[in-house]
Amino acid sequence: MPVETRTPNAMERFIAKARDLFAEESDLDRRWELLRPVLAELLADPEVQEASKHWPDCVAMDGRAENLLFYEDPDYGFAINGLTKGGGRQAGERTRIHDHGHIFTLYGVLDGSERVERYKRLDDELKPDYRPIRRATDVLVGRGDIDLVKPYEVHAEVTVGERTVAVIVRSQKAGEHLQGRYDLETGAYFESVGPRQTTAEMLPKHHGSS
Ligand SMILES: [Fe+2]
Repeated sequence: MPVETRTPNAMERFIAKARDLFAEESDLDRRWELLRPVLAELLADPEVQEASKHWPDCVAMDGRAENLLFYEDPDYGFAINGLTKGGGRQAGERTRIHDHGHIFTLYGVLDGSERVERYKRLDDELKPDYRPIRRATDVLVGRGDIDLVKPYEVHAEVTVGERTVAVIVRSQKAGEHLQGRYDLETGAYFESVGPRQTTAEMLPKHHGSS
């Protein structure tokens, strides 16, 4: 009986390399820097780019964003998300200003462009519900750009009025731990759980059979 051989697809190649890296590199800052070029290969894959045109639009509901969940690693716990933002939004509309709590995140733009704002915290954590911030950077990002968001780093994405698609790698699946929420005008601060996770396929099921 012939044995079916199949070339690993881009997501499977990413997972294999990421697992090697998690096994070999225990320094978290180095590990996440080294993961950048691995994610860059995934973002450059034409089949992933093509498939992403058909990923469903993520919809915010009850104050929570939505992420597509492609993969959660059974041993190392890292997760791969897709995030699609429809093109019908007004230029200048921003996501809530937030941090990701204690996790590391690589945010890679797969399609479209948007702005990424980073904020600096000005408080000394004396009051639990008050963490004033100021805008530190505002960068236009596009296909292939990767932003490393370290624990508790404050940021927001701003639409320029086009559909954008991102592939996000997180050290732990979001949605089950608290993340900080910030108000630029008032300095108000609170915490709530992150995006709900909707299981989806990054690539069509029988992709790559030979
Ligand atoms: Fe974020």
